[in-house]
This record gives sequence, C-alpha cells and structure tokens, in this order.
Amino acid sequence: MSSWYYKRSIGDAGQKHSERNEVAQNYRSVGLIVGVTGIAGSGLATTLSLADTPGGPWKIYGVARRLCPSWLAKHNVEYIQCDVANHTETYSKLSPLTDITHVFYLTWSGSEDCTLNSIMFRNILDSVNPNAPNLKHISLLTGIKYYLGNFSDMSNKNEPLDCPFYEDLPRVLNQETFYNNLEDTLWEVAAKKNNLTWSIHRPALIFGFSPCSLMNIVSTLCVYAAICKHENKPLVYTGTKVSWTAFSDAVDAELLAEHFVWTATDPKAKNQAFNCNNGDVFTWKRLWKVLGKQFDLEAVGYVEGKEPVLLEDQMKGKDPVWDEIVKKNNLAPTKLRDIAAFWFADIALRNRDTLSSMNKNKEFGFMGFRDTTKSFITCIQKMRDQRFIP
Ligand SMILES: NC(=O)c1ccc[n+]([C@@H]2O[C@H](COP(=O)([O-])OP(=O)(O)OC[C@H]3O[C@@H](n4cnc5c(N)ncnc54)[C@H](OP(=O)(O)O)[C@@H]3O)[C@@H](O)[C@H]2O)c1
Repeated sequence: MSSWYYKRSIGDAGQKHSERNEVAQNYRSVGLIVGVTGIAGSGLATTLSLADTPGGPWKIYGVARRLCPSWLAKHNVEYIQCDVANHTETYSKLSPLTDITHVFYLTWSGSEDCTLNSIMFRNILDSVNPNAPNLKHISLLTGIKYYLGNFSDMSNKNEPLDCPFYEDLPRVLNQETFYNNLEDTLWEVAAKKNNLTWSIHRPALIFGFSPCSLMNIVSTLCVYAAICKHENKPLVYTGTKVSWTAFSDAVDAELLAEHFVWTATDPKAKNQAFNCNNGDVFTWKRLWKVLGKQFDLEAVGYVEGKEPVLLEDQMKGKDPVWDEIVKKNNLAPTKLRDIAAFWFADIALRNRDTLSSMNKNKEFGFMGFRDTTKSFITCIQKMRDQRFIP
C-alpha cells in the first residue's frame, strides 16, 4: 500500500504547502493543469503544492481564461490566462514552456460539442508535445458519461442501469461523445512518442470548492439552500422519487487529485483508464439532511405523489436575490450563473442507482478513499472559509 495516499485518506498526512523560494531550484516534476480554476483543477493545484506530494517538488503551470482568482494565488501556480480554444493564443503562450513533464487535462468546453472539445485538447497537445522534450505523462479527466452517454441521452431513459460500471466496458456505440474523441486523440499522440504515457480518469460527481466551475454540485446545492434560508422557506428536495433513495458515488476533489498524482508517478498505473470515487456510496436522502443542518434549515425530502419541479425553473430570476445574499453576508463577489449550475443539479437529482467499481484501482495499487458525507461537509466548510457562501 502506498502510505502517502492512505495517510491522506485518514487525514494524517503533512499538509504544509511548499514555499516557492525554498524549492525553486529543485523541481522534480513540472505539471501543466489545464482548467486550473475548475472543480478538479483547483483540487490538483492544492495537492501538487504540498511539500510531500509524490513526484515533487512540483512546479505548477495553471491555465484558464479568467483573471487569476485571489483564492488560487496562495498556491504555487504560475497562472497563464489563455483561451485554449484559440490555437494561435495557445501556441504562443504554451509552446515556450519547454520544461513541462506532465499535462493534466481537466477542462471541457461547457458543451458536449465534439468538435470544440477536440480542438481544445489538440491545441494543448500541439503546443506542448513537440516543445517539451521531457513530457512523460498526460492525464485526461473524463467521467462516467463514458458508460452512460451524453446528458441529453441519459435523461430520456428510466430503466435501471447495468451497474456497477467496470473500466473494461465497451463504449456507448450509438452516439458520438467528446470523451471518446479525446481518448482517441490521446492514444494517437501517445503512440507517436516513445516513453509518453497516459491515464484516463472517470469520476461520477466531483465534490469540490471551486466557484469557477460549470458543474459544482455542492456549491449549487449550497446556493439553493442559502436562497431558501434568505426567503424563510424550508429546503425542499427537488428531485425524483427514484433519486431520493438511489445509490450513487462521488469523489472528493482532493482524492481525485491524489489519483492524478498516482497515475502520474507510479509506473504500475500507466496507460490505463480508471474509475475514481470515494470508495463508499451515498443517497440524497442522507445528504439532504446534512445540507439542511449546515444551513440550519428544515430539510423536506421527496413528497410522495408530488411532481418535482426543476431547480433550474424554480431559480429563474433569483440573480438579484443572490446579489442581496452576497451583500448582506459580505461574501466574495460572485454571480449566480457562475457559482450555481441548477441544470446540473437537476440531472444529479434525477439519477438512478449509478455506481462504479473501484476494484481495478485496488488491483493496480491505489488505496485512497474518503467518507462522502465528511467530504460534502468539508467542501461546504471550504467554501465558507473562502466566503463564497454564507
Ligand atoms: N464537475 C463534475 O462533477 C464532473 C463529474 C464527472 C466528470 N466531469 C468531467 O470533468 C471534465 C472537466 O470538467 P470540470 O467539471 O472539472 O470543469 P470545470 O469545473 O467547469 O472547470 C473548467 C476549467 O477549465 C477552464 N476553461 C474552460 N474553458 C476554457 C478554455 N477555452 N480555455 C482555457 N480554460 C478553460 C475554466 O476556467 P475559465 O472559465 O476561467 O476558462 C475552469 O478552470 C469534463 O470532461 C467533465 O465532464 C466533471
């Protein structure tokens, strides 16, 4: 068992962030995180900047389009503001980074458009691969849509899923998905360069703290809870009956980051696709009570016979309410559309039993885990600490 991962899982690892000056001359690995402000990217930036992270000390380049947020600035990230959908800009900003050893591709276009997502990934690879002679490994974040198909397709089906999902299941054949295109591009590039390895990571829900994510389920539910509280309403579950008690899994963004580190540094983990979750299961029935408690609200579960109303519809026109909440609680300035993705919560709260096996991870040596309820609470706490939510 790899003790660093186990110690992190039981909360017993050194948490100290490395000091840039202390290690500036001694980097052993240089990571490029594409999507560094996102839900997975921010977790990885935190983990790579710890003093005892395997493969380290790590030099970290981080890419996103917006200005570098202040909460990221405390990590040792060399921030590069760049739109990776633009080839000229990407090449001019990333091709000079000749010391990159690892690419972590943790972004998407915000739509399931295969062409645009492929362009973004290719722009990164075209800019980095020929110019970074020490590039060793590329990590690609996808997800369990590998097993389920696109969002639009998922919502049309009600039959039980054939889960748990195992990594060797074949692709969903009746549709084109951007995950499949990214995988094909990854393999094509890796096959052409000696000693360039890859890994593919397939989480279900990611629990993290980023306010710049297009799909942050925890922040979305917290914003809904904060609006309920502000309006003196109970926290009513907005999902379906099946989803209320369905078993699902999630991954803490910190554990996902450890998974990236493992595949990047352990020879046994190379050239493989892995599921990635906390190693336990949750139900919304359980987490809803936790959410209510966190906001001191009465949590009302699924009401038999009552047709659930989409959160997206319920939250229409609430932008000024969120602005008021931000002002009243002296929160870090955010806009409702940035910090909450109600469409995504509507998908998550309409799930059926959706579980992925972690056995392959264990067989290959990854023993990290988290308690999902604790992870949910910790993410809420982190967002509170950063003053993103009241
Ligand atoms: N979120 C989840 O719960 C979840 C679960 C399973 C799988 N996944 C998968 O994980 C992958 C990554 O998604 P995510 O949820 O981690 O993303 P995310 O939280 O929305 O983060 C996206 C990151 O990429 C940056 N970005 C977006 N477009 C960009 C562009 N054109 N140029 C440069 N940077 C760009 C964003 O910052 P800017 O906007 O400032 O550019 C942000 O830093 C996707 O394939 C997704 O399907 C996500």
